[in-house]
Amino acid sequence: MRRKDNQPKRKARRGKPEYDFGFRGNPATAAYRHPLCEGMRTADHRTLVSLFSGCGGMDLAFTGGFKVLGQRYSAFPVDILAAYDFLPDAVECHRLNLGEYAKLADLTNIPPTSLPAADILTGGFPCQDFSSSGPKSGFEGKRGKLYRILIDYMRAHRPKVVVGENVPHLARLNGGAYLSAILKEFEEVGYHFDLWELYAPDFGVPQSRRRLFFIGIRDDLPGFPHRPVPTVRQPVTIAEALADLEGVDDETVPNQSQFFVSSKATSGGGQGDHKNDPDKVSYCIRANARGRIQFHHRLDRRLTVRECARLQTFPDEFVFPFTTQRNLTLIGNAVPPVLGYSVAKSVLAYLDALENGAESTASVEPQRSFALQQELFA
Ligand SMILES: C[S@@+](CC[C@H](N)C(=O)[O-])C[C@H]1O[C@@H](n2cnc3c(N)ncnc32)[C@H](O)[C@@H]1O
Repeated sequence: MRRKDNQPKRKARRGKPEYDFGFRGNPATAAYRHPLCEGMRTADHRTLVSLFSGCGGMDLAFTGGFKVLGQRYSAFPVDILAAYDFLPDAVECHRLNLGEYAKLADLTNIPPTSLPAADILTGGFPCQDFSSSGPKSGFEGKRGKLYRILIDYMRAHRPKVVVGENVPHLARLNGGAYLSAILKEFEEVGYHFDLWELYAPDFGVPQSRRRLFFIGIRDDLPGFPHRPVPTVRQPVTIAEALADLEGVDDETVPNQSQFFVSSKATSGGGQGDHKNDPDKVSYCIRANARGRIQFHHRLDRRLTVRECARLQTFPDEFVFPFTTQRNLTLIGNAVPPVLGYSVAKSVLAYLDALENGAESTASVEPQRSFALQQELFA
């Protein structure tokens, strides 16, 4: 099928791949994945509840126990009690890869008291209404006030630490008024907050992506987690990140057969019509790709689902079981696990220091004993 301009029609190369297991059933990950993948809990752990959990980028970051781009990220002593999302694809993908604790639920319809109490609350509240690429409708948008679900949980369960996440544009929208209003409401329920705007390439993510983390500590607790410091001196380039996938166009690497067929990259013709510079990090991987996900830096096609997942630092064993577009939505919405890992490491170091009564709760590495705990950033 050809378009009027004689270019091949953009369409998914193939439909839905079938996977017998995901990250959690894969024999290759058995040696280092988190016990939660097997539904096991440990006696020595921090508890966590995850709201707006998507396919689990942030949840994988907080449990650790994965390898990506040649680096090993050790498992953390964290038990996620439950992870909630109302998108069936997100929950199915989460369960296939990470465990049975993901739950399908519209968080606007369940009372916060029915959720389990945990030490840590995470929530990447929806960002479309604050995003620079969206309608910028802020609080007037239909998802603009979902941050209040986190506040309801904080009021009901008093977690020690809160980790909210959104797009940095939120801080600039409406002259910063939305951000001030959100922080005011967050702090009114007895927490103090700091904002960490982190640039993903500083942490080894081969993709230009900035995220705004809202870190909240309950008012009765001393100290504060330290802001993560960059873990790499040089960014990982797109050529380095994708080199070994160039000769693969089948499912020997999961999701590598899925991509939108398209001819040449045009020059700046709109979202996605860009070819990556191989010596730089990639453009931001978008959730609303609609067939216009960016081109490969060398090959005459757009990036595959696996290449997008890799640029988002999902391990190759983390599979996406839907059609190209549906998979890209899950991937583009996620926090890159490698970026989230640095945030998790800092939060867990803080909780360790708190428990040990350390004088400075802001400068201590995670110390707790844990069966799978190995050297960090080995
Ligand atoms: C930005 S994504 C979060 C991604 C996640 N932090 C990750 O790392 O994979 C926001 C998620 O909120 C979910 N969501 C939006 N409104 C919701 C609601 N009312 N109840 C439950 N989930 C909702 C969306 O389905 C989407 O998966």
